[in-house]
Parts: sequence; C-alpha cells; structure tokens
Amino acid sequence: MENLGELFQTADWKAEKHVPVIEAAETVGKGEMFNVTLSIGKEVAHPNTTVHHIRWVGLYFHAAGEKFPVEIGTAQFTAHGESAEGADKSTIYTHHGATFTMKTDKPGTLLASSYCNIHGLWRNAKSLNVK
Ligand code: FE2
Repeated sequence: MENLGELFQTADWKAEKHVPVIEAAETVGKGEMFNVTLSIGKEVAHPNTTVHHIRWVGLYFHAAGEKFPVEIGTAQFTAHGESAEGADKSTIYTHHGATFTMKTDKPGTLLASSYCNIHGLWRNAKSLNVK
C-alpha cells in the first residue's frame, strides 16, 4: 500500500523553491509566546500564477517525549490571479507565507508542510529549545 509520508519531498530550502522555510528563534522562553513564520521560495522564488501556485502551508509541533505532534495551524492561499476574464487576469494573488504565534513549556521539533498544485507535498523541520 502506498505511504502518504513517503510522498512528502524535502531538500535544502536554499536550492529547492518548494521547501517550506521555518523561521523561529533557536530558543524561546518557557510558556512565552513566540512567532514562527513559514514561507516558500525565500531563496529561489516559486511561481504564483493561476496554473502554478502554493495552495497551503501547515505547522505542527512535536514536543519532546510526546507520542504525537500537535497541529499549530494551516494557512490556505486561495487567490491566484483567476477571474471571469480568465487565468491571471484579476491581478489579485495571495502570497504564500504565514506567521503563527504559539507557546510551549517543552522543547521539541517544529514541522512544516506545504503543497504545490503542480509539484506536490513538501516538508521541513527545525529544532526548538526552551529555557
Ligand atoms: Fe511548484
């Protein structure tokens, strides 16, 4: 049987435009709110057109010692230039980036996923320390 997890691709985000870039502090204060920004194409721009675009990004946190990750949030990007005039005629585009604000008492791993309508599922991860 096909495994969904194996369909998530990853690479160095500096060279691969689909990998969600995770920007957050290396260490955050215990129980203090902090921001996590997800973006696509920070180094190599990804297209944002009616026919080729990023649909969503998702952020999860897997706290050390916990069995399962927790979904922090998902951002959907739903405007890609389409209009009654046709593809790329509206001039309205949702940029594929989002900032989530969260807190935790435990260190762990920030996990990000993204979906390109042409090139499929992508993932990335970043360690988070708590002091
Ligand atoms: Fe793509």
